Amino acid sequence: MIEDKRWKGVYSFEDSPYIMEILTGLRDKNTDSIAFRKGLVKLGRYMGYELTKTMDVEKVRVETPFEETEGIIVKDRRNVVIITVLRAAIPLMEGLIKVFEHARVGIVSAARGKAPKFEVEMNYVKIPQIRPEDIVIVADPMIATGSTLLTVLREVKKYGTPKRLIVLGVLAAPEGIEKIKREFPEVEIFVAKVDRELNDKGYILPGLGDAGDRAFGEP
Ligand code: URA
Repeated sequence: MIEDKRWKGVYSFEDSPYIMEILTGLRDKNTDSIAFRKGLVKLGRYMGYELTKTMDVEKVRVETPFEETEGIIVKDRRNVVIITVLRAAIPLMEGLIKVFEHARVGIVSAARGKAPKFEVEMNYVKIPQIRPEDIVIVADPMIATGSTLLTVLREVKKYGTPKRLIVLGVLAAPEGIEKIKREFPEVEIFVAKVDRELNDKGYILPGLGDAGDRAFGEP
């Protein structure tokens, strides 16, 4: 994982050839829904695995069939809350939960409206109480204008202050990152890649299209 020099606490996985290969498959317009969903699940799993490298660990003793030796547990892995932003984050969450199997899961249905206003509609919110030791991971594949995420982050904050508040996505546009960092400088952002820009319809370029439509078929 590499920190993007333009901001503090923004990381991409461009140094991981396998994550980049999965991203390449997702970008390909000829990738069908089944392969697209599988790609998102894989990304959730591997990005989740990468995230454990940033987590607190604890030394433990373990007995092998022959003798006692030292080992570790990733302490933070037990305190993860995954917030799934419907609907494109569902496959991403499926991958994340393979690494964070103890996770409590929250669901938020939020989507931005059409250009030029991009007003966000939030219809359903179910978020567990957040404890000071929690690592909250908001899973949202596409950080585009950032307006959906801002709405979600404001909502998440009502449920408590976690040890770390993380946004995990596939692609981000610089415009969206700026907007989030302006209001929530403490939020850490992990994405496979930061892309070039947004187009006038609020899509990320070069991007991968509409992640929800591609994962679940046209609505
Ligand atoms: N949401 C998507 O699914 N794709 C984009 O490019 C932007 C927002």
